[in-house]
Amino acid sequence: MPARILVARVVPPRVLERLRRHFDVEANADDAIYTPAELVQRLQGKQGALTTGSERIDAKLLAACPELRVVANMAVGYNNFDIPACSAHGVLATNTPDVLTETTADFGFALMMAAARRMAESEHFLRHGEWKKWSWDLLTGSDVHGATLGILGMGRIGQAIARRGALGFGMKVIYHNRSRLAPEVESPLGARWVDKATLLREADHLVLVLPYAAASHHAIGAAELMLMKPTATLTNIARGGIVDDAALAAALRERRIAAAALDVFEGEPAVHPDLLEVPNVVLTPHIASATVATRVAMAELAADNLIAALNGGTPPTPINAAELQQRG
Ligand code: GLV
Repeated sequence: MPARILVARVVPPRVLERLRRHFDVEANADDAIYTPAELVQRLQGKQGALTTGSERIDAKLLAACPELRVVANMAVGYNNFDIPACSAHGVLATNTPDVLTETTADFGFALMMAAARRMAESEHFLRHGEWKKWSWDLLTGSDVHGATLGILGMGRIGQAIARRGALGFGMKVIYHNRSRLAPEVESPLGARWVDKATLLREADHLVLVLPYAAASHHAIGAAELMLMKPTATLTNIARGGIVDDAALAAALRERRIAAAALDVFEGEPAVHPDLLEVPNVVLTPHIASATVATRVAMAELAADNLIAALNGGTPPTPINAAELQQRG
């Protein structure tokens, strides 16, 4: 008997076809986001689930779905999973690192440049018929090349952004991370570890790439924004909730920082109304990994994880395999 799985959102058709060759699949043809109660109901009798950041896998759900053995997130971030609860219930959790690193770094860099050079503001200005003449200071921004790039959270994506800045744009790279990178990783980038306050004070362009956890909730709030240069930009491609969106909107309105670019929002897809009112912010709908090739690769990797985990193989990108092994 094949294992039964739920594919909780629409995925690329070829990945769904592949999963159907291995499993008895219930798919979500409408791509509607299930309520927590509906998710529990649909997971009854299922051993596996392919999820996205929209599905929350917590202790309550796990207790109500005793047959569940593996949850495969189609995302690198997994703050929608309660990992200790998964481990306590003997459920393997997996994510999709690596396959999206370069694509996401491209987008983070593009957003940073868009904020620095006021691209969204410029387009609105043109579309609204406000472009009447050349002026020396029309929509002047700040340079990216040669500027100081600050990175908060120096994992794989942070390092890929640092590479773009250091090697492509001659930027000076400073970063803050729980742990310092090894010298052989730091030195080709000329990257320097600094404390968080120094990062905030010295960065011309600050990019957030740290995972969301209780400890990183509002890691950038009013106090942190006060430390930044009035000419600085802030880019968030990490997770909503890392930035206090109301405090950021106030800082942008009062020009305490020059500009921001946000791909993620606390409570998304809702966006804090104050952010919609300020002109000096670029807003995109959580699309940093959204190229066709990368989204297919993410879905394939989630499928690889499910197939291996439920067919006695070794899942390529587990999150809590060590904890499960310890549990025995
Ligand atoms: C996207 O935000 C991801 O975590 O993959």
